[in-house]
Order: sequence, then structure tokens, then C-alpha cells
Amino acid sequence: MKRAVILASGNGSLAQAIIDEPQLGGQIVAVVSDRADARVLERARTSAIPTHVIEMKSDRKVWDKEILDCVNNLKPDLVISAGFMRILSPDFVQTFPTINSHPALLPLFPGAHAVRDALAAGASETGTTIHWVDQGIDTGKIIMQARVSILPGDNEASLHERIKEVERGLIVAAIKEVLPTLESRHG
Ligand code: GAR
Repeated sequence: MKRAVILASGNGSLAQAIIDEPQLGGQIVAVVSDRADARVLERARTSAIPTHVIEMKSDRKVWDKEILDCVNNLKPDLVISAGFMRILSPDFVQTFPTINSHPALLPLFPGAHAVRDALAAGASETGTTIHWVDQGIDTGKIIMQARVSILPGDNEASLHERIKEVERGLIVAAIKEVLPTLESRHG
């Protein structure tokens, strides 16, 4: 069974969709968060999935090493960034095959405020992208995308909620596609 680790910072509705998928093709061996109060940790515990919290340090390099060591101990074949609001170090992304779910149609609207930026640009549609994580910010190779219309009267919260409805299905589909292509690194 392939081993996957989820990274998430907040609510964790994407993580929940992944955890709930019976045909994922792999096992979620842990959820790792940078926030001790993240709701995703409760969701993981409810499903008896081990959790780890690596809070940001004043010295960013210390945090980079802590999260790399933590995830390394979990021996993942795949790391899934699902609502994780931190940039991973070059060392991290070179060590673990890592995918990320982003709430826009990359390369449009990279960064932490993708939904707000799409609205501010006056776009008529946006969407969601699952991509490999490289050393840039939301620049890695695209795996899958799905479009979402921007409706008159949408605000950041309403649009983000509609994107996430699509995103939950897309991340699960991407994991199912990607996991069988990865070499099992841990027998
Ligand atoms: C998702 O829309 C995800 O794409 C976004 O956070 C949300 C998490 O929702 N991630 C980013 O913006 C990363 N730059 P959730 O906490 O309900 O799973």
C-alpha cells in the first residue's frame, strides 16, 4: 500500500474528502499541520489518523528542517498539500514527490490570495488546479484543472466555497491518478 501524508493549515475540507475516499489507492499515514488549532487535526483524529504539528519558528530554517524530518519519519510515497499555507523548502520538494491544490486556474492567480485576486481582476471564470510542487510559488507541472464560473454578486467567501466543491473531487481524482505511477519507496 502506497503511503501518503497530508499537509493542511486550517479547516481541512479537502483533507476530509481525501480521507473519506474508499478507493484512494493508498493509505493516509498522517496529517501534518503548522497550526495547533487547525480543524483538520480534529478531522484526522476522528478518523484515527495520526497528527503532527510543526509550528512556524522565528528561524525559518529551523522549521524547514523540523517539517522535513517529521515527514521523512512518516516515509511517504506522496505528500499532498491540501490547504497548506506555507512555502515548502527546496530540500523538502526535492526529497518528496509533492502535489498541491490551488484555488485558481494556474498560471493565473498564483499565491495566497488566488480567489480574491481573480475577483479583483474582473475575471468571468476561475477554477482550481492540482499541480506538482517545485521550488517556485505555484509554478510546478499541472496535473489536472477544472473551471468554475464567477457569478454576479460573488464575494470571496461564496466563490471560494464553490471552488472548493469542485476542488474536493479534483484532488481525489489527481491522487488516484498519481499514486499508481509512483515507485513505492518503502516496500
Ligand atoms: C483550498 O481552496 C485550497 O486550494 C487553498 O486553501 C483551501 C483549503 O480549504 N489553498 C491555498 O490557497 C494554498 N495556497 P480547506 O481548509 O477547507 O481544505
